[in-house]
Amino acid sequence: MPTYQVETPQRCYAAIVERGVIGQTARYIPPKTGKVFVVTTEDVWFHAGARLAAGLAGVSYDVLHLPGGEEQKRLAHVEQLAEEMLHLGADRSSMVIAYGGGIVNDMGGFLAAIFMRGIPVLQIPTTLLAQVDAAIGGKTAVNLVSGKNLIGSFHQPIAVLTDPAILDTLPEREYRAGLYEIIKAGIIREPGLFAYLNESIADVLARKPAAVDHIIAESVRMKAEVVSSDEREGDMRRILNFGHTFGHALEAETGYTRFLHGEAVAWGMRAAVYLAESTGHLSAEDSVEMLETIAAYGPIPPLTGIPAQNLFARLVHDKKTLQGKVHFVLPVRIGEVTVVAGIEDQRVLDAIRFALR
Ligand code: GLY
Repeated sequence: MPTYQVETPQRCYAAIVERGVIGQTARYIPPKTGKVFVVTTEDVWFHAGARLAAGLAGVSYDVLHLPGGEEQKRLAHVEQLAEEMLHLGADRSSMVIAYGGGIVNDMGGFLAAIFMRGIPVLQIPTTLLAQVDAAIGGKTAVNLVSGKNLIGSFHQPIAVLTDPAILDTLPEREYRAGLYEIIKAGIIREPGLFAYLNESIADVLARKPAAVDHIIAESVRMKAEVVSSDEREGDMRRILNFGHTFGHALEAETGYTRFLHGEAVAWGMRAAVYLAESTGHLSAEDSVEMLETIAAYGPIPPLTGIPAQNLFARLVHDKKTLQGKVHFVLPVRIGEVTVVAGIEDQRVLDAIRFALR
């Protein structure tokens, strides 16, 4: 199974996609590492802790728990874990293993980024969404009430261990939420992956190993290439935000409780596709194909009772909003996107209304 190199000014590391790799975790702990802290949730540890414990046979480690749920992705919990680490004897030679979904990868990474000004983190994602997106790329963060991921840091991991076998027991809703990030990968840069997702819907939804391994590997390759070309999101990396500007507004407006991140991204992609077509960036034919593909892997939970105007107002709080201008990543064809600012408010509102239907 493949290994992809992520090469950034901060660090070069391997993103490994291999069934059973969690069982090899001890190999990825650097020599002379001090105390090892596994950051996870009670739920992940209950269901999948034995797998990592086997991979850490012979290694001494402590397990620290974060609460689950996007609404709990807050600074106070990171501070609490840092206190626990100190009580357990952590120092600058310690390391974190972030073992869980995107929230654990983001928060565990952020804890490692700021603990004594930075200790290593090994990312081991246990959800599809985290495997294809959150665990790779070094962005770590927590949410503010006002918006998603507004406090954070770039802290590249020492490696990312992606084990597709761990997805066998992932709840269906979580699995689909991850598939939306893979659709995103197809639309922004990988027409072959997009075509595969359309041709192989039954295999992908049935989690046939060959299909799952293929779509994960292609997504990880894409993300590794994009992050390697632009670690700090000055240029190319912005394409990864397709669907996220709208999606983050939906998550914040609904208190981070109604939609999984991937579901919010699916909704945001619908809005962005509509906006791209209505502003003349995208053909009607490609727009229909994108919307149909998103729908084929749905549905997302009901969107009732969410005021379009509130979502519109939240767009200006997104990190990607610069000097009051919202920047939208819009598709121009399958496999290519562009970044556009200065779109009329009415068109943006129309796109939000379309996606809420
Ligand atoms: N940690 C996710 C990213 O860097 O994109």
